[in-house]
Amino acid sequence: MFELSTFIQKTILQPVKIHASRRAEKERLGFRTKVPRNVNLEKLRNGYLFPEISKLELQHVEKYPNAKLISLGIGDTTQPLPEIITSSMANYAHALSTADGYTGYGPEQGNKALRKAIAKAFYKDLPVKDTEVFVSDGAQCDITRLQLLLGSNVTIAVQDPSFPAYIDSSVIIGQAGEIKAEARRYGSIEYMQCSPRNNFFPDLSTTSRADIIFFCSPNNPTGHAATRRQLEQLVEFARQNGSIIIHDSAYSTYIKDDSPRSIFEIPGAREVAIEISSFSKFAGFTGIRLGWTVVPEELLYSNGFPVIYDFNRIVCTCFNGASSIAQAGGLACLSPEGFQAVHSMVDYYMANAKILVETFASLGYQVYGGANAPYIWVHFPGSNSWDVFTEILEKTHIITVPGSGFGPAGEGYIRISAFGQRECILEASRRLKTLLQ
Ligand SMILES: Cc1ncc(COP(=O)(O)O)c(C=O)c1O
Repeated sequence: MFELSTFIQKTILQPVKIHASRRAEKERLGFRTKVPRNVNLEKLRNGYLFPEISKLELQHVEKYPNAKLISLGIGDTTQPLPEIITSSMANYAHALSTADGYTGYGPEQGNKALRKAIAKAFYKDLPVKDTEVFVSDGAQCDITRLQLLLGSNVTIAVQDPSFPAYIDSSVIIGQAGEIKAEARRYGSIEYMQCSPRNNFFPDLSTTSRADIIFFCSPNNPTGHAATRRQLEQLVEFARQNGSIIIHDSAYSTYIKDDSPRSIFEIPGAREVAIEISSFSKFAGFTGIRLGWTVVPEELLYSNGFPVIYDFNRIVCTCFNGASSIAQAGGLACLSPEGFQAVHSMVDYYMANAKILVETFASLGYQVYGGANAPYIWVHFPGSNSWDVFTEILEKTHIITVPGSGFGPAGEGYIRISAFGQRECILEASRRLKTLLQ
């Protein structure tokens, strides 16, 4: 009797149950293709950091509909653009309705006039040619295009903490190796720890060689601008190892001291570096979308082939040039009047940064950044970044970013953005003082 019921259970009832549950699962999921998921995307641990923060922001607004939320999180610009810039874009757009003013596709590398203006404005006394400047729709897109250029067979090193797009794009392209969950690191990525203990510059004597070194200065999130000496050491390290530095100078216009604004200020950098940069934070173009990448002619692969030819090939194949309206705006930013106007916006954000630095310093916290960058990096020793983020959000309705989102070395820190209206920054300062006093 027992054996018969086991037999029925195993041969009739169980398969029926499994079949039914498979059918229910299939109905729940709907139609499925036979295309496998990209295994590299499966290796990503979470959604991209900043949309995740935006999601939490939305949830908070739903939970506290009457609270006045202050967003010092994702680092989006807030100030209205100078009229000289918006009118140049408006005029360009209006002219598109005329036979004479209509333009279609432009050069994939960007308009000649803008390439020249970028070379002149940002690389004045340096031998950067306009033909080495590739205009883009932003630095983030160029990070991905560079990853496509490099492929999956290179090794990479990143500052820890660092802007998350470097690691995430490496994972997507297949360079990162397996995740070591307990260490919160990818096995094939070299994490170059940058903390107050090493003046936010990695100990290169213990750094393993990597083909590609992503290096951001001023750094997002720590706000540290690498000194000339530090960048000289980095270039020397790259030369000794035959590596390529991808230098991200998206915040270079925020530098107030004599730190280099471009990697190409360092002798020898043209043979080992690419520079990516952006109009986003320099001119409030986060929504308009405009950036650029400089690839020097002297930069060669191990087989002697110039990298610039391949980058040009990628740009022509995977991009069709930045919006012509955005480029008209970019050109206006680089006119003498426009340049002055956008620098006033930078000064405005840096005055916000000063208020935030003073707020935390007056409360006795160790606070970094804010002097050469619009980010404040605050240390909460022994605390978990996400706990600090949650406590600040729940008790003050201020959005920040947990430091651990930028890499394992960011644990115990939070990043505060200085982008915001002055009244919001002052109100944030008051709320933080009340919470943390
Ligand atoms: C260091 C760094 N690089 C690149 C970007 C992306 O800039 P873009 O808006 O030009 O894509 C950002 C944006 O926050 C950034 O912080």
